[in-house]
Amino acid sequence: MQPPIYYTPDIEQIPDDEAETIAGLNAVLKDILDTTSADYGHAVRAVHAKSHGLIEAELEVRADLPSELAQGLFANPGRHPAVLRISTNPGDILADSISVPRGVALKIMNVDGPRLEGAEGRTQDFIMVNGPVFSAPDAASFLKNLKLLAKTTDRAEWAKKALSAVLRGTERALEAVGGESATLKTMGGAPNVHPLGETYYTQTAFRFGDHVAKLSLVPVSQTLTRHTGEMINAKGRPDALRETIAQDAAKGPCEWDLRVQLCRDLEKMPVEDPTVLWGEEISPFRSVAILRAAPQPGWSEARAAIVDETLRFSVWTGLEAHRPLGSVNRVRRATYEMSSGFRARTNGCPIHEPATVTLPRPDLT
Ligand code: HEM
Repeated sequence: MQPPIYYTPDIEQIPDDEAETIAGLNAVLKDILDTTSADYGHAVRAVHAKSHGLIEAELEVRADLPSELAQGLFANPGRHPAVLRISTNPGDILADSISVPRGVALKIMNVDGPRLEGAEGRTQDFIMVNGPVFSAPDAASFLKNLKLLAKTTDRAEWAKKALSAVLRGTERALEAVGGESATLKTMGGAPNVHPLGETYYTQTAFRFGDHVAKLSLVPVSQTLTRHTGEMINAKGRPDALRETIAQDAAKGPCEWDLRVQLCRDLEKMPVEDPTVLWGEEISPFRSVAILRAAPQPGWSEARAAIVDETLRFSVWTGLEAHRPLGSVNRVRRATYEMSSGFRARTNGCPIHEPATVTLPRPDLT
């Protein structure tokens, strides 16, 4: 196997018009926020608005890591409090019979080291979805898809129903716009899988201390793997995912592996284009830490009041050693700030990086 490449800032190629792309994305996302906040009388995230799992956890960094993996947050073995938010990607709160991709946001606390510019607190966030590649090669192409869609449909309708299709790929998105509700029901073509059984990927690249990597979160305990491939029946159950996770996370301790895929070849494993699958035959994912959760009610209104309302997750909240890389990651800085800032202002609830997050845990009987 080739050795991992070394990180240098010139790995990134920043196009001249990136600031315009960011402004364009923010305008489109602001439309979504205006629409949904007017509908709900309350602001929710511009995408991934609906949470389905809110889980208090602990991340244990492995003690036996070779030097190429003992980087950044993973340089020292130890335990960190963590919180995991499981979501689906639309910008509003849809019935779960509309089957859409799943996402996870992981916040790791008590993390030391030089921080990214503007990153508050002592936290490190990692954000992933349940597929290995992103739908657009760069932020400008992603914005084009969004705009195209916005033109072909009524904005409110689009904001409510079609964003997840864009995140999945243009072709399907356009089908969804032209189609009737039957198309929308299978929008994105995502199977209605159990989120606890899924493997999640960053899709985009990050600095990994001296190196560059993508990350994944893999279910390993039987309490999770028994749900891999399980389909959720959401017929007549608009909140089927919440109900299912609330029950299943309470049944036993859960364990995920946090894995890292080091970049070993910048041609075959590009940093700017997240549609290119990094081959595991060139560089396999390897475990750097274990995420553990004690049995707990995996979702509740009381938990949502804490995690959905008082927290934000962003790949730009964290260490310089895990700097987000590539076009799609760079534009996420201003767009996530805009969305979480809008939520904080509209809801009159300031959002700060936490030192600990304790989620309500009524007696499990
Ligand atoms: C140009 C590309 C992208 C844009 C413009 C974008 C934008 C956003 C915005 C505005 C939010 C809401 C932030 C908040 O209100 O706190 C968000 C959340 C989220 N995004 Fe992205 N995103 C992009 C790419 C990605 C990618 C590549 C992934 C994963 C592989 C991802 C996964 C998520 C997840 C899981 C959340 C929910 C975070 C939470 O639970 O708070 N996004 N995104």
